[in-house]
Amino acid sequence: MLAAKTSQLLGVKLGKFEATEFPDGEKYVRFHDNIKGEDVVLIHPMGLKPDSLLIEYLLAASALKDGEAKSVTAVIPYFAYARQDARFNPGEPLSFHLIAKFIEMVGADMIYTIDLHLQRVPDLGSLLKIATKNLTAVPEVADWIRKNVEMNNPLVIGPDLESEQWAKVAAEKIGTSYEIMIKTRYSATEVSITTKDGKPLDLTGREVVIIDDIISSGGTIVEAVKLLREAGAKKVVVGCIHPVLSGNALANIYISGVDVVVGTDTIPSQVSYVSVAPIIATALRENL
Ligand code: R5P
Repeated sequence: MLAAKTSQLLGVKLGKFEATEFPDGEKYVRFHDNIKGEDVVLIHPMGLKPDSLLIEYLLAASALKDGEAKSVTAVIPYFAYARQDARFNPGEPLSFHLIAKFIEMVGADMIYTIDLHLQRVPDLGSLLKIATKNLTAVPEVADWIRKNVEMNNPLVIGPDLESEQWAKVAAEKIGTSYEIMIKTRYSATEVSITTKDGKPLDLTGREVVIIDDIISSGGTIVEAVKLLREAGAKKVVVGCIHPVLSGNALANIYISGVDVVVGTDTIPSQVSYVSVAPIIATALRENL
C-alpha cells in the first residue's frame, strides 16, 4: 500500500483510516487518530473504482478539515476523469474541471499529482485555487526497463502527440532516440495509429519501447504494436505510469505481441513493478 510504503520511507506514523460502506452502498470513512493540530498527508489514488474512490477522497479530506488538522497535504497519484478535459461532443460535461472544483471545495493546503494527464488543461493549478505540484515517475519507469530488459539499440515510441513529453524523458534515460506516432480516437476503445508522415516505418531487427501515461482499454498499445511489428520490430516493451488495465487489456496487449509491460503502483496491478513511494517521499521531505 502506497501510504504505508511512503510513511515507512519518511519515518512518520501511518494513520489508521477506516473506509467501509453502509448497507445501501454509501461510503463511510473515519480517521482513528487525533487529527487536531497535526500536519496530515492524505495519499489517495483514484484508480480502479474511480467514482467510489473520489467520494472516499472527498469525505476523507473533509473529515481532516473538520477535525482541524494543522495542514492537509493531498497526494492523488492517479487522478480520475482528467482525460475528459474538453467537450468532445455537444452535451458532454467538463469532467476534469468539475472534479477539480469538488476537490477545491473540500479544501487542502497542497495537492501533489503524478504524471497527471495534462493535454488541453496546462496544469491542475489552473482549475483550482490550491497550490499544486505534478511529480513524474517516467525516469523511474525508463530506468526499470534499462536495468531489467535486455535491449539492443532500442527506439522509444510515443503512440500519440501528447506522449512526446514522456517519450523524450524515457529516451534520454535509456540513452536513445524517440519517434512520435499519430493517434485518431473513434471511441473509448477504438483508435488507429499511423506514422507522422503516413509513410511506413522500417524497424527491421530493432527493439522498441512504447511509453504512455495511461493504459486503460489497451487499444492504444495494441494498435501501436500492430504498426511496429509490421515495420519489423523484434522486441516490444511497454512502459506506462498508470496501469488502469480495464477488463482484458493486459491479456490483449500480450496477445498483440508485447514482450514486457511495466507500470507503477499509482494503481496496484500485475505490472506495478515500479513504486512511486520514493518519489512521493522525496517531494514531501522537500516541502513539509
Ligand atoms: C490518452 O490520450 C492517454 O495518453 C492514453 O494514450 C490513453 O488513455 C490510453 O487509453 P487506452 O488504453 O484505452 O487506449
